[in-house]
Amino acid sequence: MLASKRILLIIGGGIAAFKSLDLIRRLREQGAEVTPVLTRAGSEFVTPLSISALAGRKVFQDLFDLTDEAEMGHIELSRSADLIVVAPATADLMAKMAGGQADDLASTLLLATDTPVLIAPAMNVRMWEHAATQRNLATLRSDGIGVVGPNEGDMACGEHGPGRMAEVPEVIAAVQAALADGPLKGRRVLVTSGPTHEPIDPVRYIANRSSGAQGTALARALGALGAEVVFVTGPASVPPPEGVEVVRVETAQEMLAAVEAALPVDAAVFAAAVADWHVLGASLSKLKKTKGGLPKLEFAENPDILARVSQMKAGRPGLVVGFAAETDDVIENATAKRARKGCDWIVANDVGHGTGIMGGTENAVTLISADAAEPWPRMPKARVAQQLAERIARALLDAH
Ligand code: C5P
Repeated sequence: MLASKRILLIIGGGIAAFKSLDLIRRLREQGAEVTPVLTRAGSEFVTPLSISALAGRKVFQDLFDLTDEAEMGHIELSRSADLIVVAPATADLMAKMAGGQADDLASTLLLATDTPVLIAPAMNVRMWEHAATQRNLATLRSDGIGVVGPNEGDMACGEHGPGRMAEVPEVIAAVQAALADGPLKGRRVLVTSGPTHEPIDPVRYIANRSSGAQGTALARALGALGAEVVFVTGPASVPPPEGVEVVRVETAQEMLAAVEAALPVDAAVFAAAVADWHVLGASLSKLKKTKGGLPKLEFAENPDILARVSQMKAGRPGLVVGFAAETDDVIENATAKRARKGCDWIVANDVGHGTGIMGGTENAVTLISADAAEPWPRMPKARVAQQLAERIARALLDAH
């Protein structure tokens, strides 16, 4: 997949640097040539010797290493690559990149190039969530820099949350997407997927039968066409695709916040089955069975994420696509829904009893736009995803 692609791999100083050793191996297995650059902090975590042994070539470490300058200037070092990967990208490296600083070899290489850059951030959860890092992240994104991860989970420092470096297969998939010459290259696309869980109390929740299969297939198909995909998913029963940025949420409120944080995007596809209501005043302690009395649940409406994004005054994605799972009068209801919500397209499907669509592997959809309702034959969800991704690519190309 990556035959003779030249990758400049900058290894920053974090415990996740150990993953970069495996990353080098896997990139080379795919045929890539990896030129490693180790920051001073990085060399506290992994040794130049193990890196050069795995890369099969010299590790560059110092800006003022005259031998290196004679062999290959730092300018040429970064320009001769097809892609620069920063893994792990520390908070400090991200800050330097966002601020345009160039005080060591890694930051100078990053400033002295117009080669595409992909970063795999890794840091403590508080550092990741800090306003400064989030500001830098937004700057880097708007500078066109690709981002993979971080993932949520247990961290080496004993805390839990987002900040773990993406796993090696995810980084590899992001590298492939960054180097893919698809029609969505350079486009950022948001996909929501899966159900939401709306808590009743700490152990009970209201949910729906969405598996996340269609949204996942769609995110994968968009990635395969070269898009940078942000995948906001509720608690789905299928695993998220590799090589996309995954943001996990539970409730509709959290999904809205994650969607807003992911903007701006070129296109947004809302495949999630968002709960329409949440339980008003969900209990903080487990509801008890009491003799003679049944709990009374009161509901409040959830925000309509699709409608909000469709009706944004400023910064609306160029293309907004909604899904409509209906059981009766599918086309009529979905056509009315498209107009009401203000999205560009609605993908309507019949999830009625006996169709086997919700949670199944096949889908039969009708693509509804302002001027047409186009029924597609029943086919695997992966095929629906591929065709929809191709239509999205065409629409974005036509718009420019
Ligand atoms: O109104 P209904 O739930 O049928 O609309 C379905 C479409 O709206 C889907 O694209 C779904 O992802 C989106 N939606 C949303 N937020 C909600 C409800 C639905 O984004 N609260």
